[in-house]
Amino acid sequence: MQTNLKVSHWFPTALGEAYYPNAEKEHQRLLPYIDKIKGEKDECFNYYPVHKDKKFNDINKFILTKVNEFSKRYNFGPMKIKDSWFNDYKRHNINSPHAHLGSIFTAVYYLVGYTEDVSLVIHSPIPPDMMNPSEVTTNDPLKNVNPLTIDDIIIKPSTGYLCIFRSFLSHEVPLKITDHKRISLSYTFIKDVL
Ligand SMILES: [Fe+2]
Repeated sequence: MQTNLKVSHWFPTALGEAYYPNAEKEHQRLLPYIDKIKGEKDECFNYYPVHKDKKFNDINKFILTKVNEFSKRYNFGPMKIKDSWFNDYKRHNINSPHAHLGSIFTAVYYLVGYTEDVSLVIHSPIPPDMMNPSEVTTNDPLKNVNPLTIDDIIIKPSTGYLCIFRSFLSHEVPLKITDHKRISLSYTFIKDVL
């Protein structure tokens, strides 16, 4: 008979993470191409179908492979890319909280990024714990918290870093206050029904 307390995790969300091995080379090759796509207008959000552009073939393939590995953990079966776009963040750009409706998974890949730059923040789907059992304070908002109780996942951008999460999770990029280059490719995924 088991007398020790057995604790298993059931409802917390999951985060998939990987690094693209050829990231620096791809970054150098694609940077001028990104500028060409943007043309005259210099906007943060660029609704451009990255997943349909052959120049991004190797990155796209890598991301789809990793998303399918992640999907296997959920038993959801094969995924296909539904939509994609890229964001070229400049100083004072911001991306308010949102979720990617109509998709199952979201992947964010940093074509170029620096960890000291503004993070991507993914919010917990669990509502605030009004009883405050972790005893967090305004001064110490991370007091006693762990992956079971934390409110946000903080993703520090770096060249070649990929993260994958469920599309219902609200996420945002707070105000950017540096001049570091920060270009992210975003993808959404739905089931690949054969
Ligand atoms: Fe997003």
